[in-house]
Amino acid sequence: MAFAPGKVILFGEHAVVYGRPAIAVPVTQVGARVTVERGVGGILVQAKDLGLSHTMGELPVDEALEPVVSLVESALEYLGVRLPPPLVITITSTIAMARGLGSGAAVSTALVRGLGEHFGRELSPEEVSALVYEAEKFHHGTPSGIDNTVISYGHPIYFVRGEPPQTFKVGKPFLLAIGDSGVKSPTKVVVEEVRRRWEKEPSRYEPLFDQIGQVVERAKEEMEGGNLEGLGSLMDENQALLRDLGVSSPQLDDLVKVAREAGALGAKLSGAGRGGSVIALIEERTREAVTTALERGGVQGVITTEVSS
Ligand code: MEV
Repeated sequence: MAFAPGKVILFGEHAVVYGRPAIAVPVTQVGARVTVERGVGGILVQAKDLGLSHTMGELPVDEALEPVVSLVESALEYLGVRLPPPLVITITSTIAMARGLGSGAAVSTALVRGLGEHFGRELSPEEVSALVYEAEKFHHGTPSGIDNTVISYGHPIYFVRGEPPQTFKVGKPFLLAIGDSGVKSPTKVVVEEVRRRWEKEPSRYEPLFDQIGQVVERAKEEMEGGNLEGLGSLMDENQALLRDLGVSSPQLDDLVKVAREAGALGAKLSGAGRGGSVIALIEERTREAVTTALERGGVQGVITTEVSS
């Protein structure tokens, strides 16, 4: 049995696709679990939450299972398992899909780890991340690689596309409230839309990406120094830039405002935007008020997670 956590992007989503840095953290309150057992014939893949199952090699493959089926093939090839024994691979997940919490990358990570363990191979985070990155291309064409990286490493990371991730010291642990807007927003769609707009008007979007990159650099310093007030206002700055990029929505803007008014030190959307999740920087004393305010604002659920190094 293998587990992989969810994730949130704290700073720098979208700009990270264009080479700017971003910061992401794992969210262990939710996750994906994969069991790999000996079966009776062929390789059976079951996605319990979706009520789907598939025997490898048969056609057609349900669209939702395509990335999984293809990852099983590439992971087995990577592990050098040419003639796999009959297997039953069972996937369950507590991460809502398309809400910015890395559901796809978490399932893929647990799957690769589960297969590795079954065949007696302990894979390094780098190896897992590289295999999952290939599967991520199914979820959206041009992933930066941040989701597979933070989920495989399981630490807060400072990430620049194409470079090894940096872990860093969080000066003072802090709490995040993560609210699910209830609106599904596939990363692929939003990332493609930003790309089309950037291609049309690079002179408008490049400076926005630069400004987001600067916010990320400052945020890393504030996290290392344990300055939560400063960190909160940088979340607000990042949210304003995401709004300028066109990836927020009236609902997300409203949830961010509601969280701020209830005492959060800062708040922003997290992930691709348009729907998905909002995150708010809270303290023990504002936890209840912010959670209640987000719930009244219409979120479908709030998770509180602690960020520490
Ligand atoms: C998705 O979690 C984050 C985006 O920046 C896309 C990516 O980095 O691949 C929107």
